[in-house]
Amino acid sequence: MADEKKSQQGEWSSRFAFILAATGSAVGLGNIWKFPYITGENGGGAFVLVYLLCVLLIGIPLMMAETMLGRRSKENPIHTMEILTAEAGADKNWHYLGWMGVTAGFLILSYYSVIAGWASAYVVKAFFGNFSGANPSEIKAIFDSFVASPMQLLFWHSLFMLATMLIVARGIEKGFEKSVGFLLPWLFALMILMVGYAMTTDGYFKGLNFLFRPDFSKLTADSVLVAMGQAFFSLSLGMGSIMVYGAYLPKDVSIAKSSMIIAGADTIVALLAGIIIFPIVFSNGLHPNSGPGLVFETLPIAFGNMFGGWLVGVLFFIALVFAALSSSIALIEPAVAWLIENKGFSRAKACLWSGLVAWLLGFGTVFSFNAWKNAKLFDRTFFELVDYLTANLMLPIGGFCIAVFAGWIMKQEHSKAELDLPGEHLSYAVWKFLVCYIAPAAVFLVFLNVVGVL
Ligand code: PHE
Ligand code: NA
Repeated sequence: MADEKKSQQGEWSSRFAFILAATGSAVGLGNIWKFPYITGENGGGAFVLVYLLCVLLIGIPLMMAETMLGRRSKENPIHTMEILTAEAGADKNWHYLGWMGVTAGFLILSYYSVIAGWASAYVVKAFFGNFSGANPSEIKAIFDSFVASPMQLLFWHSLFMLATMLIVARGIEKGFEKSVGFLLPWLFALMILMVGYAMTTDGYFKGLNFLFRPDFSKLTADSVLVAMGQAFFSLSLGMGSIMVYGAYLPKDVSIAKSSMIIAGADTIVALLAGIIIFPIVFSNGLHPNSGPGLVFETLPIAFGNMFGGWLVGVLFFIALVFAALSSSIALIEPAVAWLIENKGFSRAKACLWSGLVAWLLGFGTVFSFNAWKNAKLFDRTFFELVDYLTANLMLPIGGFCIAVFAGWIMKQEHSKAELDLPGEHLSYAVWKFLVCYIAPAAVFLVFLNVVGVL
């Protein structure tokens, strides 16, 4: 492959820009909305411990692998897999991996946009002071009546999807880099403020205990799978999202260092969310396992009671919406890049069509919280099915294949050339071991465990 090749979609202006964009993709609803509620549903500490192990042993090596594959080909995920299999002289079927990624991205975006719509609606609710002085049951009533209305959910879902399409339509350099740079520090600062509030509640230590003291009797086979799936979801792995971002990455950037920074930032935000939310849960007599509404039923209590809560609430939900936007553009970009590069679509047209499909699919999630609440398949609503299918099955399977491809199929000299920067010799050996053995074996064992073979 010619070294001068650059992606058709342009390139990041610097290592920092890449880290920013990839962190923007990683940090989102997964950290602030999903991590706390699934931690609550799966019993706390032991689940968190398994999650952290997954991030360390599977997530970081895989993030390196995925970034590397993208950077080597400089193409969209489907085409990347075609190019790299040809280069390695491997079986053609590997390009289905790219397909699965693009499909997973669509499916995730369809519900991601609905939940991001909730966050958008909460900007308005916070702005109009709906939370000030409200007690926990009033806060819960606000949430319940909101999600009971399909029209309201549809409105916000549509608005969010439209925003995603517009940003992606502007293209990678102009659209992506700017928006994330100021957002992440802002989100972080607000969260630190809220940790300060959490420390003043009388449930603070109970919350910390729940989050960090492992009780392994609460750990089921399925919760181990959920923890692993969350590691993939939160780090944006296994579906080609990091792969496209890698395609825009200049050659001289250390993939190992970048991956560790991105994964570290993502994990810190998730843990902070837990540190904020569980003290509120326990000091107000709420239940940790109240599901997808958890964030929306707890944080407003803080905003309604803490000093300056009105402003903090408004700013926080705005930051959350922007964090979700920088993730949703990463979810849709693999499909958009593929439509442009392989199907000859203009960027605008590619955004329009992929956004439209994800928007329509999102109706299923909208109705999962009201009209179709009781319509269940395998004991799950439409939203729960899509979530389970993507986060717990498609992403780990995609990640498994990426690990096998990067570790076993791709020629060692090629992966070495991409990863092995001067002075980083140890990291290549460690990476190779994790990606060849540990990551695939872990995914495989967790799957066996869930189907009851182990
Ligand atoms: N990582 C994002 C989050 O935690 C979600 C995401 C998954 C984004 C996969 C892109 C790809 O919110
Ligand atoms: Na995340």
